Amino acid sequence: MKTAQTTFRIGGAFAAVFVMLILLKEVFRKEPERLSVPIRIVHSNPTNYFEYEPTAGDIVLPDSVRGNSEVHQRPAGEWSWTGPDACGECHKEQWKTARKTPHFNTSSLPDKIKMLGSYVPGHNQMQTGNRELKFLMETEGRNHYQSVVWKDRELYRASIDLVIGSGLNLGQSYGTWQENRLLQLPISYYTPNKAWVNSPGFVDGTAVFIRPIISRCLECHVTAWDSATNDPMDYRRRSDKMIHGITCESCHGPGKDHVQHHRADPTDKVARKILAFSSTKASGVNALCSKCHGSEDPENEAPGVHSNNQLQRLQKSECFKKSGGLTCVDCHNPHRYERGKHVLAASRCQSCHELKDCKAVEPGRHQFFTEQCANCHMERRQMADIGFDAADREIIPSAIDHFIRVLPGKKTKIE
Ligand code: HEC
Ligand code: HEC
Ligand code: HEC
Ligand code: HEC
Ligand code: HEC
Ligand code: HEC
Ligand code: HEC
Repeated sequence: MKTAQTTFRIGGAFAAVFVMLILLKEVFRKEPERLSVPIRIVHSNPTNYFEYEPTAGDIVLPDSVRGNSEVHQRPAGEWSWTGPDACGECHKEQWKTARKTPHFNTSSLPDKIKMLGSYVPGHNQMQTGNRELKFLMETEGRNHYQSVVWKDRELYRASIDLVIGSGLNLGQSYGTWQENRLLQLPISYYTPNKAWVNSPGFVDGTAVFIRPIISRCLECHVTAWDSATNDPMDYRRRSDKMIHGITCESCHGPGKDHVQHHRADPTDKVARKILAFSSTKASGVNALCSKCHGSEDPENEAPGVHSNNQLQRLQKSECFKKSGGLTCVDCHNPHRYERGKHVLAASRCQSCHELKDCKAVEPGRHQFFTEQCANCHMERRQMADIGFDAADREIIPSAIDHFIRVLPGKKTKIE
């Protein structure tokens, strides 16, 4: 009896020490080695950004030679967008719900969207792996700023003028105007971790303020803008002429002529001068969505820009191959925000499948199975082409994989 008790006590002591060791190890593991790397301030033209490879300690600021302020203006006749509010005049139903989608809010002015992350002193900083170097996110009146601080001395401050990303899923990234030059700021907000992070592609321990936001970036996040030239690498534009968000005309094409026509002739009930998808369904809709959600090469499964190539993955599914034309809008209403609505999502699977097709269904758990198809047949996987460099590791976001199939190890597990 006594021996047993002693053993128990000794065992307990060992266990306590063991737990402490594990805890200490955790503490050491989580606290990255913070070096003090000397800084080097460089001024550079943003055009040089793509040849530049910054290393720890580099503070890269825009040169004082500003962009050519003579930004080309399209002749009025070439600007054929109206903005979404004009569409709402006659299509109230779509307008009312579409306004709340991540598409509509995927780019905006800072005072038109909820700014994520904290700007409150004490909670508003991002410490880099370099002990002396940090970033502060600050407000002054209605303006938001990002600044880089070296040994408590503010070296540079840029205002947040454009928000990219709704932040509802992955996060927000920020743009700043240097006269007519649109540049990306070094710090982004990452929603899954509720944290400030280095923007994708930015090296931890550097402070680069010269990264151009090229047209390619806007093609997927902005409805319409005016660039200085037609060069896709150009980042000089007019800040006052931008229709933010992926709105009606991103999908239906510029609507000026359509609006003019139907305002002038309210008796015409046939859609004129606008892209409608009803007639060209399968190929038309999927091509539209994959312009931003897939890679350009239909055969290429490699990921597009930070998306998991939904179309290319979907096309591998038996659902796609055997149904004769499954489209993105069979499961997603382009005018509504439906994230997290599992029952609705599952009902769409059941427009083709019956519950009894699912050979895993267990007696008494019908409701659970009926409502959770995607949870077992579509897995979340890491995106292959995007990561954030953090002080102690790389953060890689994940997204749902559209290759629908029986996944190994998914019998009853639920995430
Ligand atoms: C003055 C009224 C009016 C305005 C403003 C208007 N539309 Fe229309 N639209 C119509 C009418 C009328 C039709 C044909 C009837 C129908 O399909 O509803 C139509 C049809 C459409 C269709 C085709 C629907 C289909 O599949 O048949 C689309 C898409 C569309 N409009 C998009 C837009 C967009 C985008 C805007 C804003 C740029 C816009 N409309 C602004 C009146 C208007
Ligand atoms: C012009 C580019 C573009 C086109 C075209 C486009 N999308 Fe998107 N989509 C985006 C961007 C950017 C986001 C990220 C929005 C954000 O900031 O959260 C997104 C997000 C989404 C989401 C996730 C948000 C949510 O509601 O959960 C879905 C689903 C989606 N798109 C479906 C579609 C479908 C279906 C189509 C075709 C009808 C389509 N998209 C066409 C750019 C586009
Ligand atoms: C080829 C189209 C494309 C390009 C180019 C692109 N994006 Fe995106 N972006 C998307 C799509 C699609 C999503 C939604 C990803 C998803 O949920 O699958 C997205 C999501 C995002 C998000 C997260 C929004 C959220 O909360 O879900 C941010 C932030 C973002 N993009 C910023 C940028 C920036 C900054 C650039 C340019 C440097 C850029 N993107 C270029 C298509 C694009
Ligand atoms: C992400 C792309 C996308 C955006 C943004 C978008 N639509 Fe659509 N819209 C579509 C697609 C795709 C269809 C065809 C849907 C189908 O066949 O089920 C459609 C269909 C329509 C129709 C036909 C009726 C219907 O609801 O199916 C109208 C009208 C319309 N859209 C108007 C608008 C208006 C107005 C806006 C802005 C408030 C808008 N759309 C925004 C992709 C989009
Ligand atoms: C447009 C109709 C359609 C929709 C919508 C659809 N499927 Fe399918 N699915 C099919 C067809 C057709 C097959 C081929 C097998 C068959 O004939 O039953 C299939 C096959 C499958 C298989 C077997 C795959 C394999 O590799 O053998 C699974 C699992 C499945 N679907 C799950 C789903 C889930 C989950 C959803 C919703 C997220 C869904 N399906 C939506 C038509 C569809
Ligand atoms: C808890 C996880 C889970 C849920 C929820 C679930 N399934 Fe399944 N499903 C499975 C597994 C595991 C299999 C493989 C069973 C086997 O072959 O023994 C399967 C098989 C299938 C198949 C047949 C694949 C084949 O081999 O032909 C289809 C179709 C299917 N499921 C559709 C659905 C649909 C539709 C729903 C929602 C109504 C759903 N499943 C919900 C786990 C699930
Ligand atoms: C068979 C049904 C189905 C089809 C078809 C489908 N999706 Fe999805 N998609 C889903 C489900 C289910 C989710 C998860 C929704 C949620 O989490 O609430 C999803 C999520 C998404 C997301 C959000 C990304 C994320 O990681 O959560 C995007 C973007 C998206 N789909 C785009 C597309 C595009 C583009 C197409 C066409 C190529 C498409 N989807 C076709 C069922 C489908």
